[in-house]
Amino acid sequence: MSRNETIYLKDYTPPPYRVERVALRFELDPETTRVTANLKLHNNPHVVGTGELELYGQEMELESIRLDGRDLGAGDYQLDDESLRLSGLPAEFELELVTLIHPSANTALEGLYTSGGNFCTQCEAEGFRKISYFPDRPDVMAKYTTHIIADKTDYPVLLSNGNCIEQGELEGGRHYAIWEDPFPKPSYLFALVAGDLKWIEDSFTTMNGREVALRLYVREHDIDKCEHAMASLKRAMRWDEETYGREYDLDIYMIVAVNDFNMGAMENKGLNVFNSRYVLASPETATDSDFYHIESVIGHEYFHNWSGNRVTCRDWFQLSLKEGFTVLRDQQFSADMHSAAVKRIDDVSVLRAHQFQEDAGPMAHPVRPPSYEEINNFYTLTVYNKGAEVVRMLHTLLGAETFRKGTDLYFKRHDGQAVTTDDFVRAMQDVSGRDLGQFKRWYSQAGTPVVKVSRAYDAAEKSYTLSFRQSCPPTPEQDKKAPFHIPVKMALLDAEGQALPLQIEGDIEAQRHERVLELTEAEQSFTFINMEAEPVPSLLRGFSAPIKLELDWKDEELAFLLAKDGDEFNRWEAGQQLAVRSLLAIIDTLEHGAAAESYSLLSEAFAQLLDDKDIDPALAAEALTLPAESYLAEFQQTVDPIAIHTARQYLRQELAQTHRERFLQRYQDLKDDGPYSIDAMSMGRRKLRNLCLAYLAETGEPCVTEHYEQAGNMTDTMAALTALVNTGAPAAEQALNGFYQRWREEPLVLDKWFALQAASPQADTLERVQTLMKHPDFTLSNPNRARSVIGSFAMRNAVNFHRLDGAGYRYLADQVLALDALNPQVAARMVTPLIQWRRYAEQRQQQMRDELERILAAPELSGDVREIVSKGLKG
Ligand code: TRP
Ligand code: ZN
Repeated sequence: MSRNETIYLKDYTPPPYRVERVALRFELDPETTRVTANLKLHNNPHVVGTGELELYGQEMELESIRLDGRDLGAGDYQLDDESLRLSGLPAEFELELVTLIHPSANTALEGLYTSGGNFCTQCEAEGFRKISYFPDRPDVMAKYTTHIIADKTDYPVLLSNGNCIEQGELEGGRHYAIWEDPFPKPSYLFALVAGDLKWIEDSFTTMNGREVALRLYVREHDIDKCEHAMASLKRAMRWDEETYGREYDLDIYMIVAVNDFNMGAMENKGLNVFNSRYVLASPETATDSDFYHIESVIGHEYFHNWSGNRVTCRDWFQLSLKEGFTVLRDQQFSADMHSAAVKRIDDVSVLRAHQFQEDAGPMAHPVRPPSYEEINNFYTLTVYNKGAEVVRMLHTLLGAETFRKGTDLYFKRHDGQAVTTDDFVRAMQDVSGRDLGQFKRWYSQAGTPVVKVSRAYDAAEKSYTLSFRQSCPPTPEQDKKAPFHIPVKMALLDAEGQALPLQIEGDIEAQRHERVLELTEAEQSFTFINMEAEPVPSLLRGFSAPIKLELDWKDEELAFLLAKDGDEFNRWEAGQQLAVRSLLAIIDTLEHGAAAESYSLLSEAFAQLLDDKDIDPALAAEALTLPAESYLAEFQQTVDPIAIHTARQYLRQELAQTHRERFLQRYQDLKDDGPYSIDAMSMGRRKLRNLCLAYLAETGEPCVTEHYEQAGNMTDTMAALTALVNTGAPAAEQALNGFYQRWREEPLVLDKWFALQAASPQADTLERVQTLMKHPDFTLSNPNRARSVIGSFAMRNAVNFHRLDGAGYRYLADQVLALDALNPQVAARMVTPLIQWRRYAEQRQQQMRDELERILAAPELSGDVREIVSKGLKG
């Protein structure tokens, strides 16, 4: 099925031909759609012409091809199942290609496909080549017009990028529309949508007074779930003007929600296509966390209009140029709309729980990978989230004002171009006058750096020295790493928790109470003078670099920081470290029964947090959440998922018992009698209240069933149902049945119903999952549904996935194989838990490897899965 070929960054060469314009014509039919592409090409002036051109194309039939009006025969070109080669070409020419494609048979959801009877496209990264033969690479930018013809009754709405310049009726009940996009774009940003869709409309007046029409297209059934997405879009547009000076550039901005989608959403120029889960929301059907994510993804795709579309990537190795930067932008947006500290905590938690794991495994790669086999496999946490951390470090090093000058210069200098991460850093360098050469190692070296800190107070000299030693573990193809340029934001606290003035040896005076130390060498120390007493250091404030910081804290110091640190992130962090220690101690002693001393400080902190009526409830909820199992695994040499789960569960129950009254009190105080509202405070209160509920569920408190019965919104309903299911409460089955009956017509709600059962820590979950796969509403062909069962089980349920009999691994391998036949991109993402085998004990290693071998031996394996599994086996 696939020949896996490795593509290298070092082999990049500019395209020999440029495409001036593309005229596309689609005669839409679900079985067979005819696509006529008319391309105007000319020699790239920067390349010595050879008269040869390779057009990529897959899974379609070439009906005809004409060059400057002349029909070409089979002898005039070379055709195989991945490309069409032409030679002896003039410096300028027109090409007309007619291809036949099969949208309703397209289960990979890449190229043109159908979802719920409607047509839509997904072209990033290399989907356009499933629509027509084309130099499908992001450094070929062209102006597109799209002529769509379809049956009018079945497909009343016909959309593509840009502005609609003509539409009308045709004979035989058909109609047409012609769209023109005035901005040159790479083929991966092309989009077409046709179907029976309804829409809501709004408008936005830009900073320069231009009116932009905003439209959100959905199935009729969902028309009452669009308001939040539309409001989020308007906030994002305003925010990007105010924060980055970016104005929208077309007269219309369209978003379409589809049920079948491989990823979250896609930033096609003027016509975003979204997984419906990141658009549709009502209080009855969506949780607070759904509302939150919708706003953030709407923002993310909108921000791409500048960071991605106006300035795009030269090649796919540069993916983080647009993704890392755009993730940072959406993080900043959410931080400004809600609590910045809570947002930072959430983002860091994701990074630590998932990106650190990727960085430590066989698929570890730099933010700008040097090679890939299947580019779809590199839409990773490293490229997205670590990429965002790298841009954030530039922000930290340069300061907000200079950083903004840098982005202004970057957008101005490269508008309309396809560029590299080096170009991005160069803009930052040019505005700051700083040498960022060493900083660029963050783009080329994989792995999570470890920074060990030691401290020494000299009472006689009144000086305090912090010594840093950085290192980075080896990763595939990279044994040795050169030192990184690491910003460590820090303060030194006195006994009251006040930040002291900081004067480093050689400074004329102390100016600041917080500063950024810059580590550039393997070993480095900083001595602070005029220190009357030994301070407590608050380091890596706001998580100023994506590293692991190690320091021999005393438990009391962590408790002190948790209570006193002026940096909210670091307060939370101190609590997490305290909890990590308690949990590791419990794991150690579990067989003999854990001693209460091991968590007494943490327990006291819980009491204080629960009694504190002034604390931001969202922040309190974060602080009262024990570290995730996947993060705890980072601290084990050989990961024992069952011990981790058991210890965490034990501590949850102990804390719940000890503070039962407090949890109950807080739970009651936080009851909201007003109408449902999604402002930050109401969301925070629900979050804390439902967290209290989850602890109370551990004590068998009857309020959980009551909470379920009285819930007036999906946030409360899900909180109660999850608590019932996870604790194996007798009321769980009836509640699950009732929930299903109530929500069977709402696919997104049904996804939650499947997901929560598949993630349950109860011992019979795998058997339940196997039953769920036979449920009439289960299907592998819808990615959301497949992920809700298989993904939840394999990625959110470590105790059951890692069952000692290996049945969890066998189940996952079976599903990956079944899914791969339909949708390789989704299958490849699902297989990743298995490639972490090296972290587990011998028996599990063997079982996991056996399953990987079994997958690899399958006769028709996709290139996507093959790359992950074969690299995964190397460990
Ligand atoms: N560029 C999209 C984003 O905003 C990601 C994406 C959507 C994607 N669909 C895809 C990537 C399909 C690869 C394949 O992040
Ligand atoms: Zn993106």
